[in-house]
Amino acid sequence: MKIVTIIGARPQIIKAAALSRAIREEFQHDIEEVIVHTGQHYDENMSQVFFDELGIPEPDVNLGVGSGSHGVQTARMIEGIEKVLIEEQPDALVIYGDTNSTLAGTVAASKIHVPIVHIESGLRSYKKQMPEEINRILTDHASTLLFTPTKAGLTNLEKEGFRVSEPPYHIDNPGVFHCGDIMYDNSLHYASVSDERSNILNELELSPGNFVLGTIHRPSNTDDPENLASIFMALGRISLEKQVILPLHPRTTNKIKGEGYEAVRKVLDEYPNIRIVPPASFLDIIALEKHCYLTLTDSGGVQKESFFFQRPCIILRDETEWIELVEQGAALLAGSSEERILSAWEHFNDKGGIPETSQIFGDGKAAIFICKTMLENLG
Ligand code: UD1
Repeated sequence: MKIVTIIGARPQIIKAAALSRAIREEFQHDIEEVIVHTGQHYDENMSQVFFDELGIPEPDVNLGVGSGSHGVQTARMIEGIEKVLIEEQPDALVIYGDTNSTLAGTVAASKIHVPIVHIESGLRSYKKQMPEEINRILTDHASTLLFTPTKAGLTNLEKEGFRVSEPPYHIDNPGVFHCGDIMYDNSLHYASVSDERSNILNELELSPGNFVLGTIHRPSNTDDPENLASIFMALGRISLEKQVILPLHPRTTNKIKGEGYEAVRKVLDEYPNIRIVPPASFLDIIALEKHCYLTLTDSGGVQKESFFFQRPCIILRDETEWIELVEQGAALLAGSSEERILSAWEHFNDKGGIPETSQIFGDGKAAIFICKTMLENLG
């Protein structure tokens, strides 16, 4: 069986590591993978570092599209992916998550009848103003095999008319599978590797439990100066109690330098215990997540990894696709409100951590299940 895998944004490169590892270790005689990097992320520390660290094969093709408006970026990708699909004639296109690279794969493949395998399907924020929400919905509805990481994902798909059906699967009779989260596969696999190889705590002179980890990159936070200032004001207050480490996405770093963000710069001047550091590699972010006191984030990946490592998480959004984290008391939604962030901070301080939780994200073998199911149904 031949698959073309599309990656482009940082989290997709990480997710692809789990599937590529399963292929190399268990299915190397059955599955041939052609990896296409759209080039959506291109900085060394947003892309190449993950290939070096996670042992993913180098991409067979890099479309080099770079940044741009949604339309320009996605259109360039569609054109490039279509060419590769026509040339490679794969049995399926594998795409991850909800980025513009995902959507481009969907449009390119569905129009020339290449079956789509969507990994991380069914997630919804129920906010169509989020670019990712549109990307997810369109992708799910053009896919042949949908792999959902959580029960909530399955329920969301059922609400949209999907049901567990009998093979043969095709775009009009898609197969829906609840298989667990391949990011959980990765965290289990790389947690011990991170212990051995990451030196980030020493580099940043951090002691375990004594710092807070924050990440901010969603347009709803970064592109609204008031929202970003409000988050930073809360971080300033928190930094009086624990050092705040912020490995910032380039989008956020660029924004802070610009007009309108004076209030954010003022907080950074007043509170030197907020430290902005470059985007972290995967092994480094795992080390930071494992050893921090708590995380504050608008990233889906960091929300889940906090849970995997049993750290409390303050979600810098008004809603989350990973609703089980909130239901179990492991995470609290705070949006960009200074007051809500600080009250979530007090909450976890009082509780001294998160309550005992049950397993939500599967058995750490989602990638193997996905490979087997692809072979049975599309091979
Ligand atoms: C994208 C995804 C988002 C995902 C995130 C993970 C979409 C719509 N969004 O958001 O779902 O959570 O990736 O990181 O696809 N930039 C650089 N260097 C890079 C990449 C980006 O400087 O290597 C800067 C550029 O100014 C660029 C901006 O970041 O315009 C935004 O990048 P883009 O890929 O459009 O979206 P992300 O915010 O990264």
